[in-house]
This record gives sequence, structure tokens and C-alpha cells, in this order.
Amino acid sequence: MVSQEKPTILVTGGAGYIGSHAVLALQQAGYGVVVLDNLVYGHQDITETLQVKLVVGDTNDRTLLDDLFASTPIAAVMHFAAYAYVGESVTDPAKYYRNNVTGTLTLLEAMVAANIKKFVFSSTCATYGVPKTVPIPEDHPQDPINPYGASKLMVERILADFDVAHEFKSVRFRYFNAAGADPEGRIGEDHNPETHLIPLVLQTAMGLRDAIAVFGTDYPTPDGTCIRDYIHVSDLASAHVLGLEYLLKGNDSAIFNLGNGSGFSVKEVIEAARKVTGREIPVVERDRRPGDPPALVGSATKAQETLGWKSQYADIEHILTHAWNWHLKRHKI
Ligand SMILES: NC(=O)c1ccc[n+]([C@@H]2O[C@H](COP(=O)([O-])OP(=O)(O)OC[C@H]3O[C@@H](n4cnc5c(N)ncnc54)[C@H](O)[C@@H]3O)[C@@H](O)[C@H]2O)c1
Repeated sequence: MVSQEKPTILVTGGAGYIGSHAVLALQQAGYGVVVLDNLVYGHQDITETLQVKLVVGDTNDRTLLDDLFASTPIAAVMHFAAYAYVGESVTDPAKYYRNNVTGTLTLLEAMVAANIKKFVFSSTCATYGVPKTVPIPEDHPQDPINPYGASKLMVERILADFDVAHEFKSVRFRYFNAAGADPEGRIGEDHNPETHLIPLVLQTAMGLRDAIAVFGTDYPTPDGTCIRDYIHVSDLASAHVLGLEYLLKGNDSAIFNLGNGSGFSVKEVIEAARKVTGREIPVVERDRRPGDPPALVGSATKAQETLGWKSQYADIEHILTHAWNWHLKRHKI
């Protein structure tokens, strides 16, 4: 572990996929880190691998937050803690509004009470809804089509209002599809249940699933399957450190997309996975799913220009190779 020269950052959801990669990036940049995670979806062994302090608790627990802020000098918060299953948000919206909105509001109120006013927030391209233009710029209208996206948009709005009321400064990152794993294989993606394409494809390559389902082959895209913008999780993590430093320097609140500005179709991802793994990956073709736009690709020019951020692993084979190495290790295959 790198020795700490810089202030301590609270990472909520730091035992989860993207949060844990942000913890690693913060440690490597010399920050102290404390993780708050209720472990509903997070993994304690990942925090042990990272040798980071873990507080097991919930963002809805105001007493715990007050005690934490009173006992630990925290300079800023990176907030990854949320539920993120789009389908479940449609069938159980209250669960999403309670956790993603009320939980965040409780955290924000505790922060203001403790005079901690710098916040990096995981928002999502799901706040845009069905895109009118691609690549999607930050000023594209936000019209989410599911409660998950709506819950994130509500927090964005709360953050804007807190800025006016409390001089509370935030960087709101709207990210596209996070993928890949730490290039050195220390940590990676382990969602349960898993709904993301790349881990599902790799689990199929491992023989843990019979086939990968492709939903819709008649979209107006070159090969008929949906196109998505995949961003390497370590690139996301480095953007979070830059976003934090932007706030620590005293800059104003800002919103940035995080994507690669281009995408890969479902068929292209599967083909690249066959190449990287050298395994058979059987496919079953299914009907389109409601609410799946043909292409979701973000323009990240603003993050590049303002934060100096640059993705290191934009090509799909890098993303798949790192994810594959991690999956082999995690599943002990
Ligand atoms: N994975 C993606 O492609 C993607 C894309 C856009 C946005 N996001 C957002 O990024 C964030 C992280 O996503 P992820 O894929 O790492 O998910 P994840 O489920 O792996 O991580 C979320 C973590 O937060 C914890 N958590 C949830 N609610 C909590 C609460 N109330 N209090 C304390 N801990 C809580 C979970 O236990 C989990 O460890 C989420 O906010 C998600 O909405 C993810």
C-alpha cells in the first residue's frame, strides 16, 4: 500500500464493483480512505484485499453517519452506494427511491451538519432516457424511462439545490457501461445477480451458463444488435480522483459524462470475447427488450478538456482481457 500524504475520503459503496476500483485509485494517489458499505451487494474480502478500513453500515443511518464524521476527519465523499438493477426498479420502485434518494439525502444532510461540502456522485446515462442525439452530450435533455434512472436524476437535482443553499460542491459523473477489472487482477466485478453483458458473456465462456441471450437482432445498427459505450472501470476510477481533485482545488460544481465516445455492438463484444478467451460462446437470439435504445454512446469531451481525463483502456479487447483474468481467478478456474 502507498503511504498517505493527502486527506481522507469517505467512499460509500466501496465494497462494490466501481467503488472498490476508486478506493484503489485513491490509495495509489496517496489519499486515506474509509469505506462505508452495508454489504448488501458488496464484498468484505475485496476491502480486505485493499487493506482499507470498512465501516459496515447504511447511508440511511444518520446516527452512524454523525458518529463517523465526528470521529474521522473526512475531506470529501465519493458516493457509489446505490441499488442499480433497472428491472427491479420497475417492479419495486420504493426500494430504489428509499435507498438511492432518501439514503443519499440522509448522507448529504449529515455532511452539511459536519461541514463537509465536497461530493463526487455516481450518476448514470440512464438519466437521459432514450437519446435524441448520439454521442450524448451533457446538455442532452434528461428524461429517464425507469425508476432507477429517475432516482439518480432526483439526486442530481438535490445536489444543485444544496449548492445554492449550502455552497455544497459536487461533481456529478454520468457514466455509461462500466466494464473490465483492475489490470493487475487484484479486484474486479462480482455482481450477484449479474445482469451486465460482459460478465455474462465471460460466464458463458467458462461454461457457467449454457448460452448468452442476445435481445434484438433487428435494430437499426450495422449488425442489428444494440450498441453500448463500455468504459474500463480503472478509467472510471481515475476520473473520480481527478473529479475529487477538481473539487479540492475549490472549483465549482460540474457535470461530466464518462464514456469512450464510441461503442461496440452485442455481437462485436461476443466475437471479441471468443478471441480473448479462445472458448466457444453459444448464443440464443431473443426478441428486443422494451426500453432498450439501439445505441447509447456518450461524449466525454468535457471531462477530457476540463479534468484532463483520458481513458487508458478504450479498446474492447483490453477490457475483456482484464475482466477474463479476474473471472478466472474469482471462480478458481
Ligand atoms: N455498473 C455500471 O455500469 C454503472 C453505470 C452507471 C452508474 N453506476 C452507478 O455506480 C455506482 C456503483 O455501481 P456498481 O456497479 O459498483 O454497483 P455495486 O452494487 O457493485 O456497488 C454498490 C455498493 O453499494 C452498497 N450499498 C448499496 N446501498 C447502500 C446503502 N444504502 N448504504 C451503504 N452501502 C450501500 C452495496 O452493498 C454495494 O457494495 C452505483 O451508484 C450505480 O448506480 C453503475
